[in-house]
Amino acid sequence: MSTSLLRRFEGRVAFVTGAARGFGAAFAEAFVAEGAAVAMVDVDTAAVQEAAEKLRAAGGRVVGLECDVADPDSVASAVEHTVGELGEIGILVNNAGLHLTRYNLPFAKLPTDEIRRLFDVNVLGVVHCTLACAESMGRAGRGAVVNLSSLSSYQVVSPYGVSKLAVRGLTTAFAAQLGDAGIRVNAVAPGLMATESAVADLPAELLQEFVTSRQSVHRTGAVEDVVSAVTYLCSDAASFVTGETLRVDGGVFRGV
Ligand SMILES: NC(=O)c1ccc[n+]([C@@H]2O[C@H](COP(=O)([O-])OP(=O)(O)OC[C@H]3O[C@@H](n4cnc5c(N)ncnc54)[C@H](O)[C@@H]3O)[C@@H](O)[C@H]2O)c1
Repeated sequence: MSTSLLRRFEGRVAFVTGAARGFGAAFAEAFVAEGAAVAMVDVDTAAVQEAAEKLRAAGGRVVGLECDVADPDSVASAVEHTVGELGEIGILVNNAGLHLTRYNLPFAKLPTDEIRRLFDVNVLGVVHCTLACAESMGRAGRGAVVNLSSLSSYQVVSPYGVSKLAVRGLTTAFAAQLGDAGIRVNAVAPGLMATESAVADLPAELLQEFVTSRQSVHRTGAVEDVVSAVTYLCSDAASFVTGETLRVDGGVFRGV
């Protein structure tokens, strides 16, 4: 685990969903490096406990918890456990999401139960976690939520794109509804980034096409690019920013 000269999250508790790997694991590491205690939650229990153990071994105050964000009872129990073990939650990153290529098939090709699961995880998961963490943030008097949307929400042609457009809608709706409780709600919309799961799932030519002809910044997007956007939005430097979606896509200008 790298340590940071910045200590923007000293004394704060962060709840990061989908934290077993990819962006989620990187957000957890960044929060720990800047002084936060972190609850890493994921439906993949063994992997999230292993990821949490790694950060604990490096000196972090971290718990790894089983949680299916699509299930409100599972979320409530993970939040209760976090508050009991680490204290009131100050930061929530709604990162857990289904994003494999198959969710970019036309609606007619995706069975209804898979469409339902996609929306249960990517959309209702954000609702369940935000409502459960907002109670704790309300008691603490302030909070910051960041949701993971996607470039696909600006060129909506697939079930996945629709789910990530809904995430942008939830971002403005919760920013309006939770502002009085001192809670800011923002989103980050990454373009194609080289997380392990994306590299394994997407054709290498597609990743290359983005870099050479679709992006204005001609390099592959890295996990660190998204980490710095998310940590900025969670920090006090963004205390006047809420309801915003920040695109981190190397400048792909199609649609609005
Ligand atoms: N990688 C990219 O290029 C990219 C681009 C844009 C947006 N995103 C979004 O960023 C987020 C993370 O992406 P990633 O590449 O790190 O994904 P990933 O697949 O590497 O990791 C996602 C994690 O979420 C967990 N998860 C899945 N369903 C869950 C559930 N119901 N409850 C709890 N945890 C669950 C998985 O077990 C996994 O550990 C997703 O929301 C994705 O849609 C990713």
